[in-house]
Amino acid sequence: MARKVITIALNGVTGRMGYRQHLVRSLLAIRDQGGVLLPDGSVVYPEPVLVGRDERRLRDIAARHGLARWSTSLDEVLSDPDLDVYFDSQVTSVREASLEKAIAAGKHIYTEKPVAGSLDGAVRLAAAARDAGITHGVVQDKLFLPGMIKLRRLIDSGFFVLAVRLEFGYWVFEGDLIAAQRPSWNYREQDGGGIVLDMFPHWQYLLEDLFGPIAALYARRATHLPRRWDESGQPYEVTADDAAYAVLEFASGAFASVNSSWVVRVNRRELVELQVDGTHGSAVAGLRHCAVQQRVSTPMPVWNPDLPDPIDYLAQWTDVPDNQAFENGFKAQWELFLAAAAQGVPFRWDLADGARGVQLAELALQASAEGGLRWAR
Ligand SMILES: NC(=O)c1ccc[n+]([C@@H]2O[C@H](COP(=O)([O-])OP(=O)(O)OC[C@H]3O[C@@H](n4cnc5c(N)ncnc54)[C@H](O)[C@@H]3O)[C@@H](O)[C@H]2O)c1
Repeated sequence: MARKVITIALNGVTGRMGYRQHLVRSLLAIRDQGGVLLPDGSVVYPEPVLVGRDERRLRDIAARHGLARWSTSLDEVLSDPDLDVYFDSQVTSVREASLEKAIAAGKHIYTEKPVAGSLDGAVRLAAAARDAGITHGVVQDKLFLPGMIKLRRLIDSGFFVLAVRLEFGYWVFEGDLIAAQRPSWNYREQDGGGIVLDMFPHWQYLLEDLFGPIAALYARRATHLPRRWDESGQPYEVTADDAAYAVLEFASGAFASVNSSWVVRVNRRELVELQVDGTHGSAVAGLRHCAVQQRVSTPMPVWNPDLPDPIDYLAQWTDVPDNQAFENGFKAQWELFLAAAAQGVPFRWDLADGARGVQLAELALQASAEGGLRWAR
């Protein structure tokens, strides 16, 4: 069987996403399974080149996983004619400049979201990638969540139409009594932080994939906690939004209320939940689960604060069975991207799609600054 090695620069590989999701759970797992099978029967096999700022950490990761190549010089790596793909999971604030360099060097591009810090930047990148004739793609992992795949199954069966409620979030520890579970740059606007820039790109592709184009939005962002403590235990001022409250209107006429917060204690089954109410029934989908209540099995609530409510509402939902094996979404998307890049064909979720995600985030930020309302299209 013919085997083609595809060499990939992984920039930001010492970070949470770069190391765990992209290197270990995706590319190393693909190497362990022998590569990705292409339609012509050949196999594409990824060869990572670790890129970052800290030589010791890169060397450690390379040694831990038996990898041969690492570098602290992006320019040097990009000048290698044998390098095929540039992947970026650095902090958001430095992404655009690195992607620009990689596109200019003629490499295929795959990147974490948001693709840039502004819509202008994102559109520039998408145009440059198109002109360069490369294969380019953006991570859209939430499409691959088992709960969302089950929800899509229900929507495709004609189940829903009316309204959506999205609740996302959890308590991110302040960092004083106990270390925070997310990096501190997320809470500093000057470092590319903020929940709107982080999560609205996800909401754009997920919600438009499920419910069609977004026509308008109302959004407000908030900074609820003004002070946090960083990785070295030093207090810092929070300059980015740690929560956002939005209402979206879809071209279909459906509405979604979308709450995103790092300052909320979880009282839900999962860290993200999407309730969809429709004529034939309702569903609540999360990372893994999707529970439904059919029209015919909907209980009839009667408002009466004088008596205990006899209905156990939560007991009247039924879990949609798995009925299929769910692949790790990051790995599944890498496999699709490697196949596209190896064949030199367009990838299904490209930098123009990435720009749409940044657009929704930017519209939400503008709306918030101007008092709320904004038309998205
Ligand atoms: N798809 C998803 O579900 C998802 C989830 C979380 C984060 N992300 C995105 O992934 C990216 C990384 O997030 P993370 O949580 O892994 O962050 P992280 O802080 O854990 O990792 C960031 C990486 O960038 C490097 N870095 C930091 N500052 C830098 C600088 N000034 N110049 C160059 N490199 C620098 C770090 O060394 C590290 O390798 C962000 O853009 C974030 O929006 C995506």
